[in-house]
Amino acid sequence: MTSLLRSTFYLKGIAYLTAIMPMLVQAADGESIMIRGGANPQAMPCISCHAPDGKGMPSAGFPRLSGLPQAYIAKQLQDFRSGSRQNPVMQPIAMSLTDEEISAVAKAYADRPKVNVNHVKNPNPTPGSGAWIALRGDWGKNIPECTLCHGPDGVGIGDAFPPLAGQSPLYLENQLKAWKGEGINGKNKKALANLPARHNDPNQLMQHIAASLSDAQIKSVSEYFGNLGDSTELFDESQHRLR
Ligand code: HEC
Ligand code: HEC
Repeated sequence: MTSLLRSTFYLKGIAYLTAIMPMLVQAADGESIMIRGGANPQAMPCISCHAPDGKGMPSAGFPRLSGLPQAYIAKQLQDFRSGSRQNPVMQPIAMSLTDEEISAVAKAYADRPKVNVNHVKNPNPTPGSGAWIALRGDWGKNIPECTLCHGPDGVGIGDAFPPLAGQSPLYLENQLKAWKGEGINGKNKKALANLPARHNDPNQLMQHIAASLSDAQIKSVSEYFGNLGDSTELFDESQHRLR
């Protein structure tokens, strides 16, 4: 091959690559990211911590991702990137994912099964218990009932209000403490302009609630939602409609 021919092929090759590059980027495969990680090796395979079924590892505080809304998952990954949600494990991973990978992996998890909770009929919580806070709130301290935003039985509402049922007591407690500015992320608390480790909630909805909850209330309400469990019965959306 003459050098002229060679360079023509080379140029054609470049032109071809440039043409398919956007397609390759678009085609980020969510399932593959879960199992093999992102293109950047720092974006580790999600399954190693969030489990092969996407239901997380309760005892380690690794949350469930299976069935969470796509927009919520993508938002959390963007928040880890920006630092409005601080966590030493997830921040480097989120920073190593491209925007396309974030939307692909968020969609793949959103397509997995949602948490399936048995509907609690005529609940009769003991005043002051975790169930009471979840279902009635503590209005003396301006704490609304959690189900107001997180849905009946804590199954979540729409894109913005994530499910609490299906997450472990430990993970829920960690989040409430991160919003309060305490707990495992507490040492990061002064890192970003004196804000708590998690300050990514619209209108500081959760920061106000977490700050009003005592540590004992955080524990009991986390245990309530964390133990609602994942039923094996068929999911029946109508059971969880707001009254
Ligand atoms: C080395 C362990 C590890 C790996 C690997 C990992 N995660 Fe995480 N992930 C965590 C931990 C720990 C948390 C909880 C952080 C906290 O407490 O704020 C978390 C939280 C999350 C959340 C927030 C969930 C919620 O309910 O708000 C999302 C979304 C998430 N991870 C997505 C991913 C994706 C996507 C991948 C793969 C690209 C991944 N993670 C890989 C450990 C991991
Ligand atoms: C006024 C609406 C509202 C009420 C009431 C509310 N929440 Fe939330 N909560 C939110 C929003 C919005 C988010 C998601 C914030 C974000 O984008 O990260 C959230 C997220 C959470 C998370 C993090 C879930 C995850 O997957 O990381 C926990 C835990 C939580 N809320 C607990 C509670 C508890 C416990 C109560 C009752 C004491 C409660 N919330 C009441 C709006 C509310």
